This record gives sequence, C-alpha cells and structure tokens, in this order.
Amino acid sequence: MTEVGWEERWEPVCHVAQLKEGRLIERLIKSTLILLAWYDEGPWAGSGLCPHQFARLSEGWIQSDRLHCARHQASFCMRSGDPDDRWQINGIKLYRTRINDEIVEVNLDDPA
Ligand code: FES
Repeated sequence: MTEVGWEERWEPVCHVAQLKEGRLIERLIKSTLILLAWYDEGPWAGSGLCPHQFARLSEGWIQSDRLHCARHQASFCMRSGDPDDRWQINGIKLYRTRINDEIVEVNLDDPA
C-alpha cells in the first residue's frame, strides 16, 4: 500500500529578475495578497496588507531591515514580521520562498 503524504504546494509568482531590480511586487494568490521583495540576497514574501488599517504594503518601502507602511508609517521587521514598538498591532505573516529555474515561488501553506 502506498502512503499518501502531505505535499508542499509552491506557487510561481514572478521572475527573479523582477525582484532583483529592487521593486516591491504584489500578487493575489488564492485570495491572499502577498508582497514580494529582494531582501538579504534572496526573495522575500510577506503579507501584502498592513495589519493596522489594511493599506497596501506595496506602496511602502524597505529601509534598515524594516518594511514601512506608507499610510501611517508603522514598520515591520523583515525577519520576524513584528511591528515596531510604537504599535500595538499584529505583525505581518511571512512566507517561505524559493527559486526554481529563475522563477520565484512562494509557499502559502507553511508560513516562514
Ligand atoms: S495602515 Fe499601515 S500603519 Fe496604518
């Protein structure tokens, strides 16, 4: 009898060159808005909406290892997703990424 196991599902999201240009890219995957960036020499993926008032984080910027929301300037740690100390809000979800034949893929099933 063959055992049926859980299989990871990776979603292709963009070409790696698009992220290396330094742009913040958003993608809607299975009703989830994802933000993509090139960070620490690799693809990075996290929630595309700010947990404060749901502004699109693609309108923000990355500075000093933090993702900044353009609407009210909350910032989130790129490594943990945690908000800065001024805010009593949830952090942003982070997702695992990989590069498969120059295509960036995101795993939504298993947060980073
Ligand atoms: S909506 Fe992002 S800080 Fe308010």
